[in-house]
Amino acid sequence: MTMKLQPRARFFYYAELADALNYDDQKSPYAFSLNGQWQFCYLGSPREIPTAFLEGRYQDLDWGSIQVPGHLELQGYGEPNYTNIDFPIPVAPPNVPAENPTGLYYRTFTYQKHLDRQILRFDGVDSVFKVWLNGRLVGEGHGSRLMTEFDVTEFLVDGENQLAVEMEKWSQYSYLEDQDMWWLSGIFRDVTIVEETLIEDFQITPVYQENQWFAQIQVKQNLSSFQPVALDIYYRGEVVTTALLKEETAQVLIPDAKEWNNEEPNLYTAVIQDVQKDALVAVRFGLRRVEMLQDQICLNGVPVLFNGVNRHEFDPEHGRTLSREAIRSEVLQIKKMHINAIRTSHYPNDPYFYDVCDEVGLLVIDECDIETHGMWVQVHPAQDSYWEAEFVERGLRMVHRDFNHPCVLIWSLGNESDFGPNFIAMAQAMRQADPSRLIHYEGDRDTVVADMYSTMYTSVEELEKRASKQVHQKPQILCEYGHAMGNGPGSLQDYQDIFRLYPSLQGGFIWEWKDHGLKQGENYVWGGAFHEPVNDGTFCIDGLVLPDGTPSPGLLEYTRIIQPLKFYVAQNHVVVESLYHYQTVVDLQLQWSVEVSGRVLAEGSVPLPPLAAKALSPVISLPFPTTIEQGAYLNLTVVATESFDVFEVGDVIAATQTQAQAIETAGIEANVTVEDSAARLVIRRGDLEVVINRGSGNICQISQKGQTLLQKEMSLTLDRLPISNDMNVVADRKQKRIGTLFYRCEDLRMTVYEAAAMVVLRQRIMPPAVSWGIELEITLWVTDAGLTVTTKGWFDGEKPLEVPRIGYSLPLNQQIGEIGWYGRGPEESYPDSFANALVGRYQVSRTNWAFPYVVPQEAGNRMDVSWATLTLPASDIGLRLTAIHPLNLNVVGEAGNILGATDGGDEIRIDSRVQALGSNSCGPLPLARYRLYTDPFHFSFTVQVD
Ligand code: GAL
Ligand code: MG
Repeated sequence: MTMKLQPRARFFYYAELADALNYDDQKSPYAFSLNGQWQFCYLGSPREIPTAFLEGRYQDLDWGSIQVPGHLELQGYGEPNYTNIDFPIPVAPPNVPAENPTGLYYRTFTYQKHLDRQILRFDGVDSVFKVWLNGRLVGEGHGSRLMTEFDVTEFLVDGENQLAVEMEKWSQYSYLEDQDMWWLSGIFRDVTIVEETLIEDFQITPVYQENQWFAQIQVKQNLSSFQPVALDIYYRGEVVTTALLKEETAQVLIPDAKEWNNEEPNLYTAVIQDVQKDALVAVRFGLRRVEMLQDQICLNGVPVLFNGVNRHEFDPEHGRTLSREAIRSEVLQIKKMHINAIRTSHYPNDPYFYDVCDEVGLLVIDECDIETHGMWVQVHPAQDSYWEAEFVERGLRMVHRDFNHPCVLIWSLGNESDFGPNFIAMAQAMRQADPSRLIHYEGDRDTVVADMYSTMYTSVEELEKRASKQVHQKPQILCEYGHAMGNGPGSLQDYQDIFRLYPSLQGGFIWEWKDHGLKQGENYVWGGAFHEPVNDGTFCIDGLVLPDGTPSPGLLEYTRIIQPLKFYVAQNHVVVESLYHYQTVVDLQLQWSVEVSGRVLAEGSVPLPPLAAKALSPVISLPFPTTIEQGAYLNLTVVATESFDVFEVGDVIAATQTQAQAIETAGIEANVTVEDSAARLVIRRGDLEVVINRGSGNICQISQKGQTLLQKEMSLTLDRLPISNDMNVVADRKQKRIGTLFYRCEDLRMTVYEAAAMVVLRQRIMPPAVSWGIELEITLWVTDAGLTVTTKGWFDGEKPLEVPRIGYSLPLNQQIGEIGWYGRGPEESYPDSFANALVGRYQVSRTNWAFPYVVPQEAGNRMDVSWATLTLPASDIGLRLTAIHPLNLNVVGEAGNILGATDGGDEIRIDSRVQALGSNSCGPLPLARYRLYTDPFHFSFTVQVD
């Protein structure tokens, strides 16, 4: 009869309710820790195990000592070896080298049995082991990062006991445990005797039905017929419901339910009063649902954005043996950096880790202990039936052990082990054991069993291509990206931008949290430090923090990029958006300063109103003059004024800096009024009226004192008349249809406060018949400075490599009279032709604006324009344009034709960038450095009408 227990949940019995509710097994009299100093004997191979050991004559051995938990190689027995992919041993499964470091462990302890059954629990032994209690073989274990339990009731005695363990470093299972890390063996996690009576297994699945939350309870007893037991469910120390369990399964309604999510980690504790007196079984759980809704991974109905890290268990002195304090402080550090998710790369972690994640609120992808990366063999384990049972068993051992943790949203089958029937069988068994979670596996490239498409280190361009296809498909996450090796990673903002843009991209996990440098004296060492013949050098030094946890600049950068608040700024007006998914934040203060050359021109602070998840704050107008010096910066910092989450008073929650816009305003005091309908949004302030077409997302009219400006919608356009030197690219432009764009507003939100309004909208621009487009985030402000338009755009899909220009066309309903500007002039200028166009203040009439080329073509662009005034002789209003970052200005004729060709209204062009000229009518195209590639763009300008 095997003493080894079937996979089950990991839980404890308690004697005191307070300890059960605190979930503090260290206080339980029913958990007896066997951690500590053990006697130890290090051998070169299992063939050298002395007969005395096998026969239980332990006194006859020559013992040294070892700390349990801990690794052999970090306590003077053998040496660490770092490899990424390759095995340091010949790949000859299931055989292992004849020299196979072997450890004999031995200790005695005095024991007093309390309850009916005693279970000997090993939380982690690398890689295989055998156990003897009082000279009798109890059983064998394997699966280095998985729990192994033996029923030792028949072996354990009251009084003195002798426990012996034999472990081997290499085994056939090593071929499934080839993660990128130091090879470190031994009993490296806790060893405990847990006392039990009736309850053998205890699983809780949160169930949401018809707007109510239930705890689905599944209890196994070690009796042939079920004996009724009393169940109490506690929330924050108070009983919220009770039930008498009469069968193995029951569904218990939770009144006034508080959901669990990573921002509001509400936990319940279910306590079963066992039949035996003073024996309570406690299991903590959370009410949350994980599901796919509209092709997205959702937590409680809200799409998840993983701002995650991959975390190995690592300590520079103790390897994968971590104390509870170390685990807690590391998880808190991660949470404080605004990271919301951890992938337990690449194995189930120390059980305490999940307790902390449940408590502080972190989303976990729990990964199974399978990696066969370096198996350069004909048939991969994933496809070899020999390994099927082992794959399935590992999956089930993880699912059962961690079942009750709300932090675990997703099970990951493993890492870098190819794909095949064994993973299919494993996934099926895991889904059957737990239908309440999702499945991840990067190696399942066609998502045969995985709920999401997962890739590593995919480029921004590749991600955009897939995400912009706008078809029904499983979402994509990056289980690894942003390789943090040494100085780096770069482009985190570029990734974050597209995660936020495309619903099918649900974020990713930086590789990786910590450098695995082992401490030697004052230094940290990497692969090769122990003269390992096979090693991968510095590849283990690839974390966001140093081995001791010191944050690298890369981590601070990541924190800024994933901070939970987003700022929108125009002149002295600020809107703060909450990027939290669930919680309302209160007690935040916005601190601001305006600085130029290190001099503070103005500063202050204002309390932020409570901000609901995803909400925009009202427009906050900061009291500084907008006539400040050019080149000043506005610094914005949000700090906590009360502690919340893991933050304390004074902690910086988010910060940003923008250039402060110097702008003259007419100083008209007026409040904003808004008129909204399905078709149009009209914003009025004083004499200014701005009308937004809710369908296209474009501004369709601007008027002042009742006089309208626009003939047609103002829109972002890309085309211009070709120049003679474009003769070889016109066909391509035509083919990409850059001149025929359709506009669609995908989302529009508005916020107002007294004298200012801001609209933030998402717009999609697409041409017909070809598959590319532009995603835009546009903010439109109506303030005392007029209308400010800030545009960020991302080209995607099968996009053209280059475009002739990127900017707004304002088709006027009248002609312009005079144009004055500060920028390059007086002649036209283009990125590769501006030597004769000096920055200055100029004024010309419309008729002298564009050079009259004999063959009509694009003409008249002025670069580096900071401001411009345009008169409109047909009405008594005029226009003034201003930009913080100088832009391109052009005035063309109706419908983009040359000026003066028709007698219709003129068109103003405010361009972020324009294409260069080159001389390709006979010579080369423009130099690469002047060309206008379809990279993301960002620009802003203000229109004043008076
Ligand atoms: C990945 C792998 C990680 C790590 C990383 C490189 O392919 O999953 O374990 O090796 O590359 O640092
Ligand atoms: Mg690998």
